Amino acid sequence: MIDFHSHLLYGVDDGVKDREGSLKALEEYRALGIIRGIVFTPHIYNPYVKTNVKAIRTVFEDLQAEAEGMGIRTWLGAELFVRYQELKTIPAFGRFALCEFDVYNEPLGFADRIDRDLVEGQGLDVILAHVERYEWLEPGSAKARQLKERGYLFQVNASDVWPEEKKTTARWLASGMVDMFATDNHGRAPGLPEVLLRACERYPDVVSRMNEIENAVTA
Ligand SMILES: [Fe+2]
Repeated sequence: MIDFHSHLLYGVDDGVKDREGSLKALEEYRALGIIRGIVFTPHIYNPYVKTNVKAIRTVFEDLQAEAEGMGIRTWLGAELFVRYQELKTIPAFGRFALCEFDVYNEPLGFADRIDRDLVEGQGLDVILAHVERYEWLEPGSAKARQLKERGYLFQVNASDVWPEEKKTTARWLASGMVDMFATDNHGRAPGLPEVLLRACERYPDVVSRMNEIENAVTA
């Protein structure tokens, strides 16, 4: 299984700070044994996070070699903050654009820009990052359905599944719209890979969708 959303490249965004921290995080995945693939998705165009874009590929190549030695496959992607800019990203597997948004304010017309720049412009599939976070997007709402109809995939952070009183996440899961769990691992909270596994055990219907996506990209 693959973790599609993480900030484990050291020193490039608000994720893991140093090489040692990255290795420690990778070791956690290795010890768990089941998550054998990680997509690194550093923030890009995020107005609240400084990203060292120039370092991304160098750090990725360094960690990819280390991960390989641990039996973990890794890929480079990005988490693109969508506002009103022209949308460009680093697509994971040359195929997926992981998109995040302002939590409180919907960037008006964003889906049209995504379709124009990413879907039609670059032939990408779109993953909406941590859908449970956005105050402007109700689980199961007409707006959510419209985004689904555009073919976007919905990702939920595994750490938002618990505690049970996290009602928004529970409603997302009940809506049947969730396609994927991921850790969004910034290297701050140990145990996230295990939380991802537990979320998967609890919601096998989400796992079957994840498996379809994984099979398509790793075949
Ligand atoms: Fe993230």
